[in-house]
Amino acid sequence: MTSLGLVMFFLSCVIFQAFPVSSSNYAGLFPDLYQFSCPQANEIVMSVLEEAIAKDPRMAASLLRLHFHDCFVQGCDASILLDKSSAFKSEKDAVPNKNSLRGFEVIDEIKAKLEQVCPHTVSCADILALAARDSVVLSGGPYWEVPLGRRDSKTANFKKANINIPAPNSTIQNLISLFNRQGLTEEDLVALSGGHTIGMARCVSFKQRLYNQNRDNLPDATLEKTYYNALKSVCPTSGGDSNISPLDVGSPVRFDNTYFKLLLWGKGLLNSDEVLLSGNVKKTKELVKSYAEKEALFFHQFAKSMVKMGNISPLTELKDEIRKNCRRVN
Ligand code: HEM
Ligand SMILES: *[C@@H]1O[C@H](CO)[C@@H](O)[C@H](O)[C@H]1NC(C)=O
Repeated sequence: MTSLGLVMFFLSCVIFQAFPVSSSNYAGLFPDLYQFSCPQANEIVMSVLEEAIAKDPRMAASLLRLHFHDCFVQGCDASILLDKSSAFKSEKDAVPNKNSLRGFEVIDEIKAKLEQVCPHTVSCADILALAARDSVVLSGGPYWEVPLGRRDSKTANFKKANINIPAPNSTIQNLISLFNRQGLTEEDLVALSGGHTIGMARCVSFKQRLYNQNRDNLPDATLEKTYYNALKSVCPTSGGDSNISPLDVGSPVRFDNTYFKLLLWGKGLLNSDEVLLSGNVKKTKELVKSYAEKEALFFHQFAKSMVKMGNISPLTELKDEIRKNCRRVN
């Protein structure tokens, strides 16, 4: 950090202590951190995203997911962005991520522009949090203030990436316990699952539901018939594992509450989506119904839960670094 950056950092901390901003008073992070040290930060993130999403509308979904997969493994520390090295395996190669995560080039582009304008100031972990928020906004979803000041990890955790990130065939109990371990409630689980209102999944992520749901060579009985038939044509019994299908077949690039309506109609794509409704947990079932009915309620809770997820174990000590290149430690 430059000496000016250091001064600004402490100044920010002092201001923050003196005038705590109610809803953003989390974990030492604070939304205006770059107000003086990099006032252009928000603008730069937004301008790169506008172009990237115009070119590839799915990119919004891919970037939202990157932040989630970052935060669930040793906190929101940009560990997901590290390429493998002699010192550690990459989280990118873990089962939930390999041949699946996208958007690394867009993060690189944002980082390169930020390094030109305000070198060594905006962390890769904060870029992920801002890119997730802006992707939601650009897709028609809610806005929220992003608490900032996460620093970047010096290592990745391949094992935890395999353990902490829920599998698509998770039961409702798996989901609740994996979220609880991150300090997230059933309310957060249902709202954040609403992230599946945008984006795609590969056949391999939902095949079990089509052909062998309960190890009985039968489909998941909760699947609506015409939807089930359409999915079978995208995802045959054998092969086609990387064919993709929208998570929200009604409006795949629009951030809205259609995802929850589809669940009520038996048209959720993943088992982990379906079980929010059919998993016999009263709380999650009721939340699915409320969000299907009231989009504003979903938007409000989604924003709140994103801030909460974004505050999972951030690195905030000066000994932690701000990477120059998001793919490797300094
Ligand atoms: C609740 C547990 C969750 C499970 C089991 C889960 C699982 C999955 C799976 C299997 C895919 C498709 C991957 C592929 O086939 O390549 C996916 C995609 C996606 N997930 Fe989740 N997810 C969960 C929660 C979340 C959360 C909390 C968010 C963000 C708030 C999120 C955002 C997304 C997005 C946006 C995509 C589409 C990405 C793209 O099109 O590139 N998911 N998820
Ligand atoms: C989920 O899928 C994995 C990998 O295919 C499998 O080993 C596991 O048994 C499945 N879990 C359930 C609950 O079906």
